[in-house]
Amino acid sequence: MAHDLATLAIRQLHTPTPDVISQLAEIHADAFPADNPDTFTRMVEAGRWDIWVAEQGNQVAGYAAVRDGRLAYMGVRAGRRGRGVGTRLLGALMEYGQHPDGLLADIDTPDSEEGQRRLRFYLRNGAAVVERRHDGWLLWLPPRAG
Ligand SMILES: CC(C)(COP(=O)(O)OP(=O)(O)OC[C@H]1O[C@@H](n2cnc3c(N)ncnc32)[C@H](O)[C@@H]1OP(=O)(O)O)[C@@H](O)C(=O)NCCC(=O)NCCS
Repeated sequence: MAHDLATLAIRQLHTPTPDVISQLAEIHADAFPADNPDTFTRMVEAGRWDIWVAEQGNQVAGYAAVRDGRLAYMGVRAGRRGRGVGTRLLGALMEYGQHPDGLLADIDTPDSEEGQRRLRFYLRNGAAVVERRHDGWLLWLPPRAG
């Protein structure tokens, strides 16, 4: 299937199927290798977060996990990064009137190119710095006019 942004659909996941959960776990494990993948899966199954997915047909290209005004996680499938999926996903999260107070996001920026690119991604998408921390940044993602 062509990986065309025009056919990328973004939705909130209300009843995750086992297939979607395993795709989420795969993307999460790659984007957040320090996390325990089993815990992530159990927390998705338990409905611990509001999960948003960006999908192309049956393939999940990226996801975001939100709770209590915080963007807990966001990841794009390896091989699909750097081509606008994350920007679209974040735009949808902030636009649909879902988070009128905006979202806070803790961004770890280890001394690595990956960490710096991740920070740049949020700043370019309108994030404001709330606080500099020893291991990263606390950002605020403002709501967008709907
Ligand atoms: C951060 C992330 C959600 C952004 O989604 P995306 O679809 O790649 O982003 P977009 O295509 O909309 O925007 C591209 C920008 O995202 C940022 N970015 C961050 N990590 C990136 C990566 N691994 N590959 C490509 N772009 C990345 C860059 O700022 C990039 O712009 P640049 O090419 O000018 O540097 C996604 O890249 C991701 O899941 N990364 C996980 C890997 C990671 O950051 N690991 C660190 C864990 S602490």
